[in-house]
Amino acid sequence: MNKYAVVLAAGKGTRMKSTREDVSKVSFPVLGRPMLQWVLESLKQLSLDQIVTVVGFGGECSKAIAEPYGDVVWQNEQKGTGHAVMMAAPLLEDKEGVTLICCGDTPLLTDKTLSALLSSHETHHNDLTLLTANVEDPYGYGRIIKNNGRVERIVEQKDCTPDIDAIHEINAGVYAFDNRELFHCLSRLTPNNAAKEYYLTDVIAMFVEKGLRVSTFSITDVSETMGVNDRYQLSVATKCMQRRINKRWMIHGVTFEDPETAYIGPEVKLSRDTIVRPNTHVLGKSWIGHENILGPDTYLENVHMGERNKVEYSHLVDVTVEDDCVLGPYLRVRGGALIHSRTTLGNFNEIKNSEIGEGTFCSHLSYVGDARVGKDVNIGCGTIVANYDGVNKTRSTIEDGAFVGSGSILISPVTVGKDSFVAAGSVINQDVPSGDMAIAREKQQNKPGYAKILKEKAKSKAK
Ligand code: UD1
Ligand code: CA
Repeated sequence: MNKYAVVLAAGKGTRMKSTREDVSKVSFPVLGRPMLQWVLESLKQLSLDQIVTVVGFGGECSKAIAEPYGDVVWQNEQKGTGHAVMMAAPLLEDKEGVTLICCGDTPLLTDKTLSALLSSHETHHNDLTLLTANVEDPYGYGRIIKNNGRVERIVEQKDCTPDIDAIHEINAGVYAFDNRELFHCLSRLTPNNAAKEYYLTDVIAMFVEKGLRVSTFSITDVSETMGVNDRYQLSVATKCMQRRINKRWMIHGVTFEDPETAYIGPEVKLSRDTIVRPNTHVLGKSWIGHENILGPDTYLENVHMGERNKVEYSHLVDVTVEDDCVLGPYLRVRGGALIHSRTTLGNFNEIKNSEIGEGTFCSHLSYVGDARVGKDVNIGCGTIVANYDGVNKTRSTIEDGAFVGSGSILISPVTVGKDSFVAAGSVINQDVPSGDMAIAREKQQNKPGYAKILKEKAKSKAK
């Protein structure tokens, strides 16, 4: 049987209370990934024949998220969830098969649940299967009205009477429909309700009246059904997702000292025996090998890291690190830097768009920008690679085995040759040949006994 999905993502998300007109609710991120994309990723796992996303308010950003997954249709006026599904009619209405409908604001929904819903729909030969859950606090959700165990209709929160308000079985907003019957009923929908909207949920009663087979499929993990309507729910969804991801990595052999303060993005890969310490974020397309120690207080984004590195109190974005490095505390690396094995990059350094060779030390208070640094180099405390003349950025090279004394400034472009030595405090603006020593600073003079004279002069001025 052919299988399709319609994802509803056109709503304004009034309860988000955003002042922005260009941002849709479903593009709000949960752990860096838009809610809509979480839903589409789950659907993608089901290998459906077609996925149609309905966009509208803030639609350009929703469209950009949805396009890689399938078709996008517009609902220019948001007249309700039923009206939204109608927008997919030109693409789907005549097709034979089953259509999954879900909302773009339920990021916690898993592919496992979706495929269980589809199987239940098929095995029971249903025309409609509703995903439902029994929740402690049903406020805000549509309630499932049953008669002798059979579904009769759904009543929305706004239309609830007190006895219906007390029902705890809720509509998760996820349905498996016989596709043709769905579009047939949609065309007869009216906005006769408190919100004056075309409710998709009114189609349920229509199916029942027509004598079609309607059942529920109930899930126990109620967190999955959570629809994110406001920013409090967004934080709850983020917390659930964080726990889910961290648990998966712990089961996989990664240690988390405090999983509640560790944030691992959905596209990150961690490897066994790595330890994630408190307040650590690993985001973007990061790939982390075995036996690394990450954190505490560390932010990694798009970091590709080998094995046995230690990185603490540091910020690394768009960086590759090989093996056995000691990074931080208080290190910032960015801009495509490549850190080879066994390097030590310590306290209060910034490294940008540079390559740092194997076994090199740069331990304190330095800036290295647009440079290639060789193997076994020592970059002394407070060294600056001055790579910017106010207009252009230029590159410098520090070759293998060089020793750059503390407080030096290397004015790019310059090459410090292999095994050369730059005296502390030098300002280098010419190449240093291999094996040479460069000293570029004022020669020191000592004035005998002058310290005392200076002090007396100062005192006499004070009088
Ligand atoms: C909806 C259901 C409710 C269910 C709940 C589950 C209806 C009428 N109600 O309520 O029974 O318990 O989901 O989370 O369906 N949307 C559009 N176009 C519109 C209106 C909404 O695309 O004109 C989209 C929204 O972007 C959102 C989804 O549909 O992703 C659900 O809309 P929302 O307003 O959040 O519905 P709920 O009030 O949560
Ligand atoms: Ca909702």
